[in-house]
Amino acid sequence: MTRRGSSRERRASPRAPGDCFHPEEREALCGRLLSDWFSVHARRLPWREDYDPYKVLVSEFMLQQTQVETVLPYFERWMAAYPDLASLAGANESEVLKLWEGLGYYSRCRNLLNAARAMVKEGLHLPPSDVGRLRSYPGIGPYTAGAVASVAYNLPVPAVDGNAERVVARLCDIPLPAGSGALRRRVSEVVARMLPEGRARDLNQGLMDLGATVCMPHAADCPVCPMEAHCLSLRQGISMGRPLPRPRAEIRRIDAWGLVGFREGACLMRRRPDRGLWASMWELPWFERDSEDFDSDFREWARPWRFSCTSRRDVGQVDFSFTTHRVRAWVVAAEVSASPELAGNEDGRWRFVPFEELPKLVLTAPARKFWTEFTKSQRTLF
Ligand code: ADE
Repeated sequence: MTRRGSSRERRASPRAPGDCFHPEEREALCGRLLSDWFSVHARRLPWREDYDPYKVLVSEFMLQQTQVETVLPYFERWMAAYPDLASLAGANESEVLKLWEGLGYYSRCRNLLNAARAMVKEGLHLPPSDVGRLRSYPGIGPYTAGAVASVAYNLPVPAVDGNAERVVARLCDIPLPAGSGALRRRVSEVVARMLPEGRARDLNQGLMDLGATVCMPHAADCPVCPMEAHCLSLRQGISMGRPLPRPRAEIRRIDAWGLVGFREGACLMRRRPDRGLWASMWELPWFERDSEDFDSDFREWARPWRFSCTSRRDVGQVDFSFTTHRVRAWVVAAEVSASPELAGNEDGRWRFVPFEELPKLVLTAPARKFWTEFTKSQRTLF
């Protein structure tokens, strides 16, 4: 294996922060990444066809916390429904959320819609290219602003996602925890120094693609990596230890009852508060399973709303998660009685929704799971 430059040479002069290579070496490794690798192995992604800034903006919102493969069908449906900034800005929120259903992290969707509306209100027909201006819109942080500026407009700014972060942490042997602000800043400094003239778009995306397909979290295919000869952590045999693991959040496990409560062909549903997790979405109720006795847990839970349950049957079990919680829910279909003006329903959040209308609502992830389990069980029963 050939190595460029001795380590003594590399340590010969003090480095600026983020500067782990001499300019010639930096140029060589960027050349390898771009010419030898990215030009051949770049993933073919729909927003890369013409780098339309609107498409790039939408893709970046969708890709926050979500893998490319998951995003692709959503992106195609989105572009068919809202092909440009103006059509998105004019759309209504519940339709937009319905298209987003299943992608998760719904605040991204509301932010994207509100950002589009703000841009159009300012007379723009495309997202702007200036990083400072981009950051003034809802949901656009340093990463998304850098990605739109560099990917859509090819401006020389870093865009460091989790994949690029891992590649550079290994390449430069940076012993900081994954996902930490300190690592993001350090890697952004390194990338800012690497950006070759006129190739910011390719360099940022090359690092992201390399991280997604070669330099992966638990396995790195180093022999095919264009930067293998320069990788400081590989040289020491510690690449899987870079970046450092992120401190683990404590996971809380919860047992719950999921309720498909019905009355005369309508299902008992509740709209979630306008802020926070699954904001404004419709849910089927669920509550903690303190015992194996549904009736007593139900009575306790239903007391404030004065529902009662006349008959019930077990439907099945589903698992779901949110933040650091892992929930196992025993789904029960129960005939519930309640006055049409439910106690505590002054804000109209509880509603009996006719069965056939339920699929048209924007449902939380657990509600979709409960409903699917319920409809499956109906099919096997009848
Ligand atoms: N993740 C986020 N943006 C991306 C892009 N433009 N290319 C590849 N992966 C990405």
